[in-house]
Amino acid sequence: MEKEILKIKEEILFKAKKIKDFELLRDLETKYMGRKGEFTKVLRSLSGLSTEDKKKIGRLANTAKQEIASAFTELKNTLTGNEKESDFVDVTLPGKKEERGHKHPISILMGDLEDIFTSMGFMILDGPELESDFFNFEALNIPKTHPARDMQDTFYIDKPNKNGELDLVMRTHTSPVQIRAMREHGAPLRCIAQGRVFRNEAIDAVHDTTFDQIEGFMIGEDISLCNLVAVLKEMLSRVFKQEIKVRVRPGYFPFVEPGIEVDMSCTICGGSGCPSCKQIGWLEMIGAGMIHPKVLKYGGIDSEKYSGFAFGMGVTRLAMMKYGIDDIRLFNGSDMRFLKQF
Ligand code: DAH
Repeated sequence: MEKEILKIKEEILFKAKKIKDFELLRDLETKYMGRKGEFTKVLRSLSGLSTEDKKKIGRLANTAKQEIASAFTELKNTLTGNEKESDFVDVTLPGKKEERGHKHPISILMGDLEDIFTSMGFMILDGPELESDFFNFEALNIPKTHPARDMQDTFYIDKPNKNGELDLVMRTHTSPVQIRAMREHGAPLRCIAQGRVFRNEAIDAVHDTTFDQIEGFMIGEDISLCNLVAVLKEMLSRVFKQEIKVRVRPGYFPFVEPGIEVDMSCTICGGSGCPSCKQIGWLEMIGAGMIHPKVLKYGGIDSEKYSGFAFGMGVTRLAMMKYGIDDIRLFNGSDMRFLKQF
């Protein structure tokens, strides 16, 4: 028994000294010293000995075990580098930098727009992305059978309502928030609403099925197109941090009368004409107009007493202009090389 213990000890120490790899050394330790290890087995067999032998051989076995353990510790330390050195913490080293996320360019721009509009006394509102046909179209003066529906094709949700009608759509614009706001807050009213909108579009560099819009509207007793132009000019000048000129052309949107298209002077050439503005000096930016009396009525507002302006603009398009991005697909593409630039 004594011989066996000494033999196995020598064997372990011999093998251990030859190992140059930390993992292998640990494997060896498990093989002999682990719960089911060979040396452990020998120790267990001591229980069958007489009390006398147990005392004598037990002492020897314990000494051998300690010898082996300290040899393993020493060898492990040599393999992982000097123990003292690895315990040393250099507090003067620079810390590890945490990877931090940051805002998406659209969110940055939306934050700027919120600041601009709250400073002009506008409320910030929200509306659902999954909208009813009524709020998205009907209440905005786009009846079911009207050809104006073709202007904005969207995704209809395949789940009938209580009356068996398919009346849920992914909102095509932020304009439905107008009706919701009028019904909730009444007149006078000054609001913006920003968020995602959806269209059934063929995707290319300037069209996507999902993009962001901002809607703005102001309702009061004496609101005119002049107020609209002033607000838009202020907004654009603050977004682009330079004096922006705007020009107004007639345009058709079912929910406004009159309807207008608002162009801004090109920020690249200042209006003299360049490739960015196709030599026109102007860029088409915003749809707007005076809120149609029928829309005010749907919103529960007396159209005899109150009038209001409304506008809608692609925040995505504005971001493309502001940051010089030429492909809309980058915004929802999750490419870190793009996102990290903001
Ligand atoms: N909702 C329109 C669109 O998505 C944009 C728009 C045009 C909004 C005129 C308005 C408006 O409020 O008055 O194309």
